[in-house]
Amino acid sequence: MQAMFKSDPQRFRRYSIQVNDIKLDYSKNIISDVTLKLLFDLARSLGLTQAIESMYAAERINFTEQRAALHIALRNMSGRDIVFDGNNIMPQVAIELKNMRGFVEAVRDGRWLGYTGDAITDVVNIGIGGSDLGPAMVTDALRPFAGKLHTHFVSNVDATHLRNTLQGLEPRTTLFVVVSKTFSTQETLINACSAKDWFLEQGATQAAIATHFVAVSTQTEAVAAFGINPVNMFRFWDWVGGRYSLWSTVGLSIALSIGMSRFEELLFGAHTMDEHFRTSPFEKNMPVILAMIGVWYNNFFGAESVAILPYDQNMHRFPAYLQQADMESNGKSIDRQGHTVDYATGPIIWGEPGTNGQHAFYQLLHQGTRMVPVDFLLPACSLNPLGSHHEILIANCLAQAEALMCGKTAAIVTQELSVSPLSPKRKKTLLPHKVFPGNRPSNTIVFKELNPATLGALIALYEHKIYVQSVIWNINAFDQWGVELGKQLAKPIAAQLFSQVKSQHHDASTEGLIDYCINLRRDSTTQ
Ligand code: F6P
Repeated sequence: MQAMFKSDPQRFRRYSIQVNDIKLDYSKNIISDVTLKLLFDLARSLGLTQAIESMYAAERINFTEQRAALHIALRNMSGRDIVFDGNNIMPQVAIELKNMRGFVEAVRDGRWLGYTGDAITDVVNIGIGGSDLGPAMVTDALRPFAGKLHTHFVSNVDATHLRNTLQGLEPRTTLFVVVSKTFSTQETLINACSAKDWFLEQGATQAAIATHFVAVSTQTEAVAAFGINPVNMFRFWDWVGGRYSLWSTVGLSIALSIGMSRFEELLFGAHTMDEHFRTSPFEKNMPVILAMIGVWYNNFFGAESVAILPYDQNMHRFPAYLQQADMESNGKSIDRQGHTVDYATGPIIWGEPGTNGQHAFYQLLHQGTRMVPVDFLLPACSLNPLGSHHEILIANCLAQAEALMCGKTAAIVTQELSVSPLSPKRKKTLLPHKVFPGNRPSNTIVFKELNPATLGALIALYEHKIYVQSVIWNINAFDQWGVELGKQLAKPIAAQLFSQVKSQHHDASTEGLIDYCINLRRDSTTQ
């Protein structure tokens, strides 16, 4: 890469692209014009143009579940109809947004009163996976835009999560938002039941549930069966995938936190990225560029993971959010024709906010044996300016990208050591340890500040990147059969733990572990 930079002073200009206020610098990659041309040719030959059209044309691209993937409709501000199954779905989207606005404004303005006549102060979102990660990540990321309501998120079936969250909350001023597309997810339902018990145990009446529990789902009957009045239910549709759903009423907790207008700015930001993705030639298309560079390392260099490193503390949940978005979408090994693939598909996604990661795992990024392509995300301006903090943060981010790319040669290390008082023997021993191989790739995504529109565009950027890669790998990005088996197997194990009865249905290890847990729990006073 260093040689390519030396021979082409225009490399940054040529290999960077801007969409609204988001700049993607992809010049620190092991790519040339030839590489990019071949990658775009590959995309064309694999039908990417058609695949993008199919998404916008509301085709059932999630063919195993016979569903369209229409998250783009949830933020469609173009005025164009989106026709699915013969109906323009845009009016339904507008109606739900309107319902959401009415409710959000009533709660935020203190007009939605709890059972004692007090206004709501705390919102507890109960959901998991896409019904938690998106809302939780965005709410945290946009904390500088939050109003007076305190938002909390409970996802884990470990009661500690619910208990810790409820500590200090008052039922009379707490609103529970139970979010589940299927309204059958075990963790969410048990958390919601326990939340209801807590609410009633503290003296609230059954009737009060109506004003303190609302649901977000596609399943009206299941919501009613759970005990939430469907009048207090916000709807979405099965053409919205769980991990693509924060743009729908699933984003209710986001809107309660930042207000409906800001929520619409988030949608607008995503829409601008959607339009860019739909209309730009591959060579100038940010999601396509990001995706094809990812394919380059995944399939031609054997890179197994991608590190997502936001230099913004409020984006601390962004890597976790992208783990579901990417790994649940592209963690597949069966192609669209039903055959086992003989190439790598979705990478492992991981990361932490900078600069924390620098003092933990960056050592491996710089000198380990694996290639880990990195995406740095960097706001140029802080929403929490304080002294020189932000300059130092920016400097660290840019320095890391530079260090990964340039490395440090043995010649430079030798020169540095030449002025040190160490013995020649010690210098010789140290030399190879201080060399950085460099030539390690990264993308740097810079934006002015992390506001709702920019965050919306960033999320949409990654959503489309994921879709493009699924097309290249010829897999379905929108189903998730791989999560089912564990759910199925957990049921009989839970029954065994309850009944404490031995069974011979499991392998020896699983059976042994079940017995061991039963015995430990028998001896314990706090089961
Ligand atoms: O188990 C995985 C999953 O189905 C995700 O795809 C989804 O986001 C999550 O569970 C929650 O599902 P639901 O919204 O139906 O409760």
